[in-house]
Formats: sequence, structure tokens, C-alpha cells
Amino acid sequence: MPQVISAVGLTTGHAPFVEEARHRGELYITQAYDLYTEENHEAWRQLYRRIRPRWEQYANEHFLRGIEALDLPSDHIPRLSDINKRLQPLTGFQAKPVSGYVPGFLFFDCLRRREFPTTITIRPVDRMDYLPEPDIFHDVAGHVPMHTEKSFADVLVRFGDCAHTAVEMTALITDEAERTRRLTNIIKAMSRFFWFTVEFGLMRGKRGTVAYGSGLLSSYGELHHAIESPEVQRYPVQLEWLINQVAEIDHYQPILFVVDNFDHLFSLVDKLEKWMREGKLNNVGPGLPDVAESDLRSFMDAA
Ligand SMILES: [Fe+2]
Repeated sequence: MPQVISAVGLTTGHAPFVEEARHRGELYITQAYDLYTEENHEAWRQLYRRIRPRWEQYANEHFLRGIEALDLPSDHIPRLSDINKRLQPLTGFQAKPVSGYVPGFLFFDCLRRREFPTTITIRPVDRMDYLPEPDIFHDVAGHVPMHTEKSFADVLVRFGDCAHTAVEMTALITDEAERTRRLTNIIKAMSRFFWFTVEFGLMRGKRGTVAYGSGLLSSYGELHHAIESPEVQRYPVQLEWLINQVAEIDHYQPILFVVDNFDHLFSLVDKLEKWMREGKLNNVGPGLPDVAESDLRSFMDAA
């Protein structure tokens, strides 16, 4: 019998369509666009209207061009199929709707195939400022415009290669405890790298330091804070620092790293993979992020 889904919207934390898919073990879903309520579209409108002037001021030029290239709507939640029609011819990337958290290896492997796992729910209108989990505004307004830029898209694909290298490097370790220990360290290093670049990266722009990290580009408050606050430590990126720096998620980032351009970022991912092969990622500094069992398992199962 077909399942009846009540039209209560696709609000973060309250979206039966998504929760039911998750319970059925379905990671990849459809956007079910008709389930969005007027309140859901209103949340998008408010988020977009508020942050747009800050993008003009603090976002990198590739992002601003991406917004135009995708024709990102300001007054309603975009259909991913419309976004993909414009995105795919540019870099081959596509936004792929998911029901929730995508375990580490599967996430990076999606990037390698130029698919970006995309949340379809949107935050409630009374929680505009802080949401620990991603929503469609973070994923589509924060990440996806960056995927229109070839040099940045290539970085994400190269990162997916690194996940495969991690699997390859650890697959033949017969001592289970040692395999777990090494993988945990490698995943931690990769997560930190991703966090301080793709999520919270800064870069040199024609107008001074600008943001390319999606955690910044989707946050009205933090985007301004990251560029303007005298309390933020902003340093030229160094791989040795990225992989050992504790990454905390529950407050504005106190330390941010600046790349010259995306070719520079690409060269750092190359170096990350080289260091992985040399064993340098087997013992990174302790502390956050914790590596979830599902992340570890995803790398082990890929072997
Ligand atoms: Fe993100």
C-alpha cells in the first residue's frame, strides 16, 4: 500500500518525509518539492534577503559569479533539478538530495563522482541564526555556488581521491586495533582539513581577504565576524597546522586559514595525500572532531 505522507513541511527536525526515508535506510532520496510549506519558503526568503549584502561585501568573486550562473532564487527554495541543469554543464557537479548525515567515505566518494550530498530540509523561521546541522540554505546557498568554479570543483574531486587512498593504505593491516587507530587519525586529519578549508576557508581576493568556506557563506553573523573581528586569528594556510588544529563546532571559529587561490588549495590536497602515504597522518594531534563509528565503518567497508 502506498505510504501516506502528511504535508507538514520539510523543516529541520520536523520532516516526516525525510525521517521515514531514514528509518527505511534510504540515504539518497528525492527533493519532494511540493512538501515545502509557505513557512519553509519564507525561511529561505529571510535568510537570502539578510545575507545578500554581506555576500557582496565578503564573498569571493567565484561565489558571486556562481550565484548568477545558477540563477539562485531569492524568494523561494530552489528546485535542485533547476540548479543541476545550470551546474552540470559548468563543472559536471550535481546536488544530490540525501536524508541525513552521509558517513565519511561515502561523502568523499560522492565528491569524487561530482555529486554533492544535499540536505533538503530548511531551518525553522524562529531559528535563523544557529543550527548545528546543515540545512538546504547551508548546502545550496553556501556550498553549491562554489561548485560552479572549475578549480574549486577539482579540489573536491581530489579530496575524494584521498579517501580512496586512505582505504587503500589501511586495507591490508591485519591488526584490527592498529587499523582502527590509523584510520581514526587519517579521518580526523581529513575532517580538519575539510573543516578549515571547504567549510571555513578564507582566501586572498582583489578586495582583501574574502570567504570561500560554506560555513561562513551561509552564516549572516559569522561571515561578518570572520572578516571584520579583530579577535579572529587569520593566518596563511599551513598543512601541518590544519591537520593538527582542534575543530570546534559550537561557536564562531577563532582561527581561520587563508589560501592564495584554488590552485594553491589543490596543491595542499596533493600534499595531504602525500603525507598520508608517508604515514604522517597516522598520529595527528588529539582533540575534536571525534570520529564517529559510522565514519570509521564507512572506510573499513569500502576496502
Ligand atoms: Fe557544509
